[in-house]
Amino acid sequence: MSGGAPAICDVWFEHHPTGLGLHERSPRISWRYKADSSHAPSNWIQTSYEVEINRRTSGNTQAFKVASDENVLIPWPDTPLSSRENVALRIRARGTSGSTPRSTDGKAANTEWSDWVAVEAALLERQEWAADLITSSTRTGLPLDGERTEYFRPIRLRKAFDVNKKPEQARLYITALGVYVAYLNGTRIGDEHMAPGWTSYQHRLQYQTFDVGNLLRIGEVNTLAIEVAEGWYAGRVVWGKGVTCFYGDEIGALAQLEVRHSDTNKPELTVKTDETWQWLESPIQSSGIYDGEVYDCQQEESNWNNVSAQTETSSSWQAAKKLPFPDATLLASPCPPVKVTELVRPTRIFQSPSGKTLVDFGQNLVGKILIHSLSRPRGHTLTIRHAEVLEHGELGTRPLRCAKATDSIIFSGSPLAQYMPQFTFHGFRYIELDGWAPSDPSDPLTVDSISAAVMHTDMRRTGYFESSNESLNRLHSNVTWSLRSNFFSIPSDCPQRDERLGWTGDIQVFGPTASFLYDSAGFMGNWMRDLISDQKEAGGIVPMVVPDVMPNGPWPCVAQAVWDDVVVLLPWTLYQWSRDDGPLRECYSGMLDHLRVIPRADDGLWETEMWKLGDWLDPAAPSDNPALAMTDGTLVADAYLVHVTRTVAKVASVLSKPEDEKRFQQEAERLAKAFRHKYIAGSGLVVGDTQTALALTLVFGLHEDTDVAGRALAAARLDKWVRAADFKVSTGFAGTNVILPALSLDLPASASNIQLAYKMLLSDKCPSWLYPVSQGATTIWERWDSMLPSGEINPGEMTSFNHYALGSVAAWMHEVIGGLASLDDDTGIPGWKKFKVRPRPGGDLTRAKTEYLSGYGWIKCKWEILSTGSGVKTFKMSLTVPPNSTAVVLLPNAEQKGEDEEVLVGSGEHHYECAYEDPGEWPPKSSIPF
Ligand code: BGC
Repeated sequence: MSGGAPAICDVWFEHHPTGLGLHERSPRISWRYKADSSHAPSNWIQTSYEVEINRRTSGNTQAFKVASDENVLIPWPDTPLSSRENVALRIRARGTSGSTPRSTDGKAANTEWSDWVAVEAALLERQEWAADLITSSTRTGLPLDGERTEYFRPIRLRKAFDVNKKPEQARLYITALGVYVAYLNGTRIGDEHMAPGWTSYQHRLQYQTFDVGNLLRIGEVNTLAIEVAEGWYAGRVVWGKGVTCFYGDEIGALAQLEVRHSDTNKPELTVKTDETWQWLESPIQSSGIYDGEVYDCQQEESNWNNVSAQTETSSSWQAAKKLPFPDATLLASPCPPVKVTELVRPTRIFQSPSGKTLVDFGQNLVGKILIHSLSRPRGHTLTIRHAEVLEHGELGTRPLRCAKATDSIIFSGSPLAQYMPQFTFHGFRYIELDGWAPSDPSDPLTVDSISAAVMHTDMRRTGYFESSNESLNRLHSNVTWSLRSNFFSIPSDCPQRDERLGWTGDIQVFGPTASFLYDSAGFMGNWMRDLISDQKEAGGIVPMVVPDVMPNGPWPCVAQAVWDDVVVLLPWTLYQWSRDDGPLRECYSGMLDHLRVIPRADDGLWETEMWKLGDWLDPAAPSDNPALAMTDGTLVADAYLVHVTRTVAKVASVLSKPEDEKRFQQEAERLAKAFRHKYIAGSGLVVGDTQTALALTLVFGLHEDTDVAGRALAAARLDKWVRAADFKVSTGFAGTNVILPALSLDLPASASNIQLAYKMLLSDKCPSWLYPVSQGATTIWERWDSMLPSGEINPGEMTSFNHYALGSVAAWMHEVIGGLASLDDDTGIPGWKKFKVRPRPGGDLTRAKTEYLSGYGWIKCKWEILSTGSGVKTFKMSLTVPPNSTAVVLLPNAEQKGEDEEVLVGSGEHHYECAYEDPGEWPPKSSIPF
């Protein structure tokens, strides 16, 4: 803290993970403040900031001073960056800490300057790509089984070149059709996996920028080498027989290495991919995302990627072939890369009833096996099969459907050290090993021989939750693991079977949970750009999966509520969390297209007969027909239609489009009226009369505003069905994120009963959120009963054990139990500049702790309920509000007394204590009398 001002602790650009290689000429700048009491004074509000920018190319340093209370996504103050330009920048802010959150009566003080940070533009113009896209001169397909004609055998490409003078800076710009790993002089460049990641390759191809200065050998021969595999580009995607070569039938690489010397200060092209490169088939015989990798070490050529160290050049290397330059836009991604973020050790090695060697990692996860070291004779094959669960003590592979999820290594006689398959990933907790056992006389399999390398898009963790209930904590951990598992370059549905697609409905319902747990703005914003391109290509219909690899089936491309609504609801969520209106702008025309292409009945609501996914996978839907839910799919679609139309009106308001705002407000109210006419009886009862129908109607506010009695009746009806279900969940994908909010709405006390929400959340009967936890689940399941109480895997085709959609309940845990909520109404300021703190204890919870790293700093809320022997309870809460933000605080007792006890508080640490009464009968009674 400097003289009454907080310390600046992070500086970042747009949503870019590092600042190296941005695709923006005028990147917006953000910084945060340290929030704890030793670093931040109370009620601190920024009044101005200074940005000092050093343009290294000209040597000029210029300062920009701006009067502003904003420190998130502030506009670039200087002239735009040119391609490749690297500038250094530091920030200092000025502000005051007043006696109240809004007053500025305190003494004004400057913060210390932040550290200097670098930001560097990528190759911003297409013509700056001097490199050619290259591939092998012959197709390297490998004929396989009858189901698939061929895999692409990965290829290796390399080029030797001289470097005579040490440059000040060296950058490699690189991408591939397929997935690649690059090496400079035998050392792997960077730590990314499955680069360049999955985008709609026909529209957008990402490239990476690497600083390779310390890998160059000055005055010697250097080797740049690239290995490329089929990846999503040419490999099999979509279930069953799938689609192969969706984007193209030739894999290849595009790379250029540029250096800059201090005397000339100009980029100099040192080496680029072209027909002077050599290529050779990789010893990796095949590498598919669904099927796994086969690595034949016998065919390995040592030092293939480090020619200068090679004594003998193999004659089998041939000249590479040039391919046409990609049509797609080449872009440096704002999305963090996929990395190995953690190693998990085995918890148990054991034999299955049939004598197979199995390894349990104790956690369902996504990644691949790392073999620390292993020697086996030449020709020996080790096979690794992966699965999420066991059934009857054996590997339960049926849920993988047509994904083989098998890696094989054929040994050469030389030992393997720190080996991982290169271009694949699996969803697994268990592996089965054939060719390596604990009883082997040499190099026996032990818990120290292998690890599971956890892979996912490497975003910063921003949200934490913990409570006095261990099962609830495990549920929260399971949600987090399912997020990590499925945020894999794109937001996917599941990571293990022959699917792993960017299903739009799943991320639509999970967006608020994800935004809390991880800084996912760059990741989701990037994916939304693909969504918009693919939506345009589909004539305005939002594809059900993005990147859209199903334009030709197997499912028809028709509008779908809940799924397609992502084009409106996800950008809105991103705006609420990150304060970035960029996705709203970029998606606005897609939002209008979506509303335009929805097939409508005469009343403006959804056409009734068409196929709808509806409340997908509710527990009543039969195993073989997940869409046959208890709630009518058209009702679900119609409720969502009102909600998204209202949201488009709010977007129009943010984007200063008053005419659109008015138009969509009127349209939404017309649709709400049509909804009432169609589904809500005069009494207030809802025609659907299911947990999902009632919850959607209540949470989306579909009763007449003045119809307090009708809403109360619908809430009472929901109360009835929740008790009648003995607190078991009856919702699917569409109802699960609204059922607890519906039970905890601010309605007249007689109709709203938050204890029902707690009872439902804490139940472990099947189906419920805690049933999987009681069965030892370590991730969120696709179905409420993916594993049946009998211990058999659910016979349905859709039975993944790692699907985040039903984990959307965590948003309620953060908001209602933890008490931290962004304010999605006129009283809030997006991006957590002004947020709400309203913990609502219930059930038998006695404490909870929730933390969120906002754009302003850490928000921390911790409460506990203390009981004295006489039954008197006290609620104690401590709250940290970061500098330059405010919170509206509402304590539980104030809410129960119906007082308007909202208090606006400013930055600093706050402590509260008040008398506490339970919010209602605990446990609430079910209406089943036995
Ligand atoms: C996916 C889901 C997806 C659904 C759409 C499934 O195969 O795994 O998560 O949303 O299809 O119906």
